[in-house]
Amino acid sequence: MDPAESSPQWWQGVRTALTLQRRPEDRAGLLISFEGVDGSGKTTQARRLAEALRRAGWSVVLTREPGGTPLGEQFRRILLQPPPLPAAGLTPRTELLLYLADRAQHLQEVVEPALQSRQVVISDRFIDSTLAYQGVARGFGIETLIEVHQKLGLLRWPDCTILLGVDPRVGLQRKRRQAQTSGPTIPLAEWSRFEREDATFHQSVAEGYRRLAEMFPDRIVVVPADADPDAVFQRVQAALRPRFPWLLP
Ligand SMILES: Nc1ncnc2c1ncn2[C@@H]1O[C@H](COP(=O)(O)OP(=O)(O)OP(=O)(O)O)[C@@H](O)[C@H]1O
Ligand SMILES: [Mg+2]
Repeated sequence: MDPAESSPQWWQGVRTALTLQRRPEDRAGLLISFEGVDGSGKTTQARRLAEALRRAGWSVVLTREPGGTPLGEQFRRILLQPPPLPAAGLTPRTELLLYLADRAQHLQEVVEPALQSRQVVISDRFIDSTLAYQGVARGFGIETLIEVHQKLGLLRWPDCTILLGVDPRVGLQRKRRQAQTSGPTIPLAEWSRFEREDATFHQSVAEGYRRLAEMFPDRIVVVPADADPDAVFQRVQAALRPRFPWLLP
């Protein structure tokens, strides 16, 4: 093999060519989202995938919702105040509108420009979070919220969504452990009450995700996430390879 052929630039060229071959109509990049209940491992796995893809020569934008933009990070601070949930004084409707405002800003400022320049965008949470949390757990309805997205010009489905499947109780245990070791994002005294009182809420989020996986079987891949992070990452890669054979080495 010509040494030039093993350079990252050469592979990048091949991959870009394959991307164009796959989607000649829009020539856009690739949007992958990570979803799942709290503590399911989205941030951990999104970071790992971003690292692996960068090592493989891709230009990757790792971003998150809420957040991802300076304004979005301000929305995030309001939205993710410590429990009791919803954040004190925030009505479910206000909460929904803030998430939509965050998405509008994120799409225009980060996601769309990155896709236009054919980068790989990895988003730690995206539209399915709104559909599961606000649509199902808060009762606005999945179909209603899809329609709202459509009417507001906010409907951009990910090319692939990795749904990390874990019992919400396991997710909450992980977050409790995280709080114990890396500082009190949520005061420990709050935890048992949070876990107990919000069990129904977290179960309905999980139910929301199950419904979304049924509604969008081609887009959403459920990856069992009740295993160590290495094993889960193997599963994430195994889920992506058949869909995008050119993506990972
Ligand atoms: N597969 C795993 N097994 C055990 N612990 C894990 C696993 N994946 C992540 N963790 C740990 O669990 C905690 C939550 O993980 P992470 O932040 O990735 O989850 P998340 O889904 O992003 O949570 P959130 O919904 O709060 O954003 C972290 O302390 C992380 O190190
Ligand atoms: Mg996270």
